[in-house]
Amino acid sequence: MKAELSLTPEDFEPDALQGKVAIAIDILRASTTIITALQNGCRQILPVAEVDTARKLARLQSQETTLLGGEREGKKLEGFQLGNSPREYTPATVLHKTLIFTTTNGTRLLNRTQKAELTLIAAFVNASQIAEYLYQAGKNFAILCAGTEGCFSLEDTVCAGMIFSNVYKMASTRLQINDLVLMSMILYQKFENNILNMLKLAQHGRYLTQIGFEADLINCSNVDSIPIIPVFRNGVVELLPSEI
Ligand code: MLT
Repeated sequence: MKAELSLTPEDFEPDALQGKVAIAIDILRASTTIITALQNGCRQILPVAEVDTARKLARLQSQETTLLGGEREGKKLEGFQLGNSPREYTPATVLHKTLIFTTTNGTRLLNRTQKAELTLIAAFVNASQIAEYLYQAGKNFAILCAGTEGCFSLEDTVCAGMIFSNVYKMASTRLQINDLVLMSMILYQKFENNILNMLKLAQHGRYLTQIGFEADLINCSNVDSIPIIPVFRNGVVELLPSEI
């Protein structure tokens, strides 16, 4: 079982994902929000790279069953019902709904993973569940970090390190790792007892605090609080069916 890591969406060639399981991570906040929405009963999520495309798609859907959510610069967009705070995606809001979702980095990353055998969505809130799935599947996999506007982000890489470490605990030397994977595991060791503080230290965590979303860091740091696995296939994110 070979493990790979990409620190930003530009670090991997979409074609190189063929035959592999991809794991997309955008801790602050797209992955955490997607996982929260599905946990709270959202039926499916359509991740869209561009704001205009999201608005056009929403106009074609029934207002009763569809929500438009996402952000630019971390803030809710005009005409959108929801922003990108996981705290907005409550059962009362999302139950049985289809969510059209666009974010700066997270949905762009997802749309680069279409060639993978399947793409799972990971965050601290479901990290152990993802590691268990990867170990049981025994396939080659690549963890892909969203980063922030083309740059490395600390929180995504620490979460990647957590997942690699958990798979390594189960698979031991059957897991083939390179030095980049090893680097993320070492970085995770530095912060494993302090995930919330790490998010407060990280650049995007500081930005979210500055614009009034400090409380989101608590949701995003809550390790294994939402043990579900979202999968992105054929343009749609939904809960991983049990047969896969
Ligand atoms: C993104 O996809 O860039 C993020 O989720 C930004 C945010 O914190 O809203």
